[in-house]
Amino acid sequence: MVLIAPSLLAADFARLGEALRVIEAAGAPMIHVDVMDGHFVEEITVGPPVIQSLRKATKLPLDLHLMIEAPERYAADFIEAGGDRISVHAESATHLHRVLEQIRKLGAKAGVALNPETPVQVLVDMVGKFDFLSLMSSDPGLTEQHFIPRSVEKVRAAAFLREETRIDFAIQVEGGIRLEHVGQLDRAGADILVAGSAIFYSDDPKARLREMMRLASKA
Ligand code: DX5
Repeated sequence: MVLIAPSLLAADFARLGEALRVIEAAGAPMIHVDVMDGHFVEEITVGPPVIQSLRKATKLPLDLHLMIEAPERYAADFIEAGGDRISVHAESATHLHRVLEQIRKLGAKAGVALNPETPVQVLVDMVGKFDFLSLMSSDPGLTEQHFIPRSVEKVRAAAFLREETRIDFAIQVEGGIRLEHVGQLDRAGADILVAGSAIFYSDDPKARLREMMRLASKA
């Protein structure tokens, strides 16, 4: 069964506590937070102090997507602040394996995120060094972007890599995911779908999240 991870990127940042209550009430398994530095991506979002506050406000695992340059300089700070799962971009880490090792040593799950244009094959020699692979299905750094249809093919390629190497890792997909994408991504081999605007820009975020989770459980 594919899991839905709501992304706070599309929530009202002045009312993050309310967004957490919505996510908890719907029974979502984790919360996704995008960390952007204005360099690796244009936007700037939050740093460790906000993660610390979120950590105090919820017991749900915090899945932090570091869209930042030099993630090796900050990974430890984000884990200390309360991150349970940390993904770093293959495109931004000079020594990817080192930062993944560092994340695991500090007790968090280590993830690799790939931009839409980066093929899954760049990770062939890295399998076993990460716990999850995050495939961007829209341009990174913005919410409410269009879902890129060939992302489904990339999920298949990742599932094939997992099968071929017989080394397990979770396949996560994020960006522009709507209700209609849940079934196809699940069938392609995805384990976790991140969704922001589909949930928080709807009139009733709790109902929408529940609907997405219901579809995921049936997929
Ligand atoms: C992409 C982010 C996701 C996602 C959220 O940079 O990692 O959190 O795009 O927003 P939507 O679902 O609106 O694309």
